[in-house]
Amino acid sequence: MPTARQAFAFSVISLFIFFSLSDAIIENANTIRAAIANRRYPDFSYYQNLRTLSVDEFPLGDSKRRVIVVGDVHGMIKPMRALLDKVSYDEATDVLIHVGDILSKGGHGGSMDVLSYMASNNITGVRGNHDQKVIEWRGWINWIRTLPGGQRWLKEKLEKYAEAEAEGVPLERWIKREKKYDKSKWWKLVPKDWVLFGEHYKIARAMTNAQYNYLVSLPLTLYIPSAHTYIVHAGLLPSDPNYPFNHRRQPLARVPNYPPATKSGPKKLKNETLPILRGLQELAILKDVPQNTIPWDILNIRSVLNGKVTNGYTRELNITKPMKDALPCYPSTIIYGHAASRGLDVKRWSIGLDSGCVYSRRLTALILTPKSHHKTLRVQDDNMDREDGRDPTTEANNSFPFGEMGRGTIVSVSCR
Ligand SMILES: *[C@@H]1O[C@H](CO)[C@@H](O)[C@H](O)[C@H]1NC(C)=O
Ligand SMILES: *[C@@H]1O[C@H](CO)[C@@H](O)[C@H](O)[C@H]1NC(C)=O
Ligand SMILES: *[C@@H]1O[C@H](CO)[C@@H](O)[C@H](O)[C@H]1NC(C)=O
Ligand SMILES: *[C@@H]1O[C@H](CO)[C@@H](O)[C@H](O)[C@H]1NC(C)=O
Repeated sequence: MPTARQAFAFSVISLFIFFSLSDAIIENANTIRAAIANRRYPDFSYYQNLRTLSVDEFPLGDSKRRVIVVGDVHGMIKPMRALLDKVSYDEATDVLIHVGDILSKGGHGGSMDVLSYMASNNITGVRGNHDQKVIEWRGWINWIRTLPGGQRWLKEKLEKYAEAEAEGVPLERWIKREKKYDKSKWWKLVPKDWVLFGEHYKIARAMTNAQYNYLVSLPLTLYIPSAHTYIVHAGLLPSDPNYPFNHRRQPLARVPNYPPATKSGPKKLKNETLPILRGLQELAILKDVPQNTIPWDILNIRSVLNGKVTNGYTRELNITKPMKDALPCYPSTIIYGHAASRGLDVKRWSIGLDSGCVYSRRLTALILTPKSHHKTLRVQDDNMDREDGRDPTTEANNSFPFGEMGRGTIVSVSCR
């Protein structure tokens, strides 16, 4: 197995013969050195920040169509199929959207099945923190295989681990032991806190290129201007918690600078500029609230503590301040997942859909239809099921206003 130095020496010798090949090897040797010395790796994260959905991709105003948003599936393929059955999902007219964390935790086979379904149907959705780990592992595997000897090392370790696993040695303990005895550079190329051969690795290794491309295509944020709605995995903040919510640097605390002031006088707002201002303010939430520009925050936020985004639960969650009256802004709605401990959490302008399916609780779908649409439901929730087996249909008892122009209904299935 060549060391970085040997690889470098080799590349010098071959310089005259294979100019471009040797370039690649020098680059590899340098990358390896940089990775080991500074823990600097190529970018494995492939973030796509924002995707904007058109009216057709989120048809909230169309009474013949529905938008169906599902909570964190986590590889629970059977409940997912049951839920799609229960809502009579019709791919010809309905739009299906997921809030991320479609895989991991629910078993390898289930994760691969859910991924296969989502990818082959190119289902719209956002990235979750677990999806992110799988993307990063795949990027790492692709990278390590380009390094001379990388593929062989991986294969050797995997065989060794298979033996240990058969003897019942837990993965983390095996890794600790390996790192102690295997002094080659390779372990140093596994980023800190990454678990080699763990469940994210296994999914990353097993998925096809098309499935990987699908995961990479999932953005951190879906924004639907026509419905004044955002969809993210964990959450967004309406303002920077380090300043008062009405501080002038908060995007919702001032009218956006449109149209720009002219020499002849201050800008004049016309009635028809209102929708434009609203759109600008909604985009400003994404780009001017600093926490919302940090991928980790969007993928992991559960609370804000002392002005900082955390992924733990705290009681200090002042995410929705009553600012509508005080500020020149209009309400938007946010749909998210991630917070299984909090569970289904339907509020007027925020809807949390992770009802803990992977913890044997429920898998939830939010069905969105136009406000005036009476036949909201083709089904009702379990707790509405009739003993006599008659379809309880259509009177939208468990429905609620969604945004300014829609109605939402919650339907769920048991994951036991
Ligand atoms: C999946 O859908 C997106 C958004 O419409 C599109 O850009 C992309 O090309 C599609 N991918 C495939 C493989 O069809
Ligand atoms: C402003 O525009 C809205 C629709 O965009 C309209 O309903 C309203 O009547 C208008 N107001 C004035 C004062 O023109
Ligand atoms: C959050 O809101 C509660 C109740 O409105 C208040 O008592 C608390 O001080 C607030 N915390 C922060 C950090 O603003
Ligand atoms: C809605 O459901 C509640 C309890 O589940 C029931 O008390 C109420 O009568 C129902 N409302 C309608 C309009 O069916």
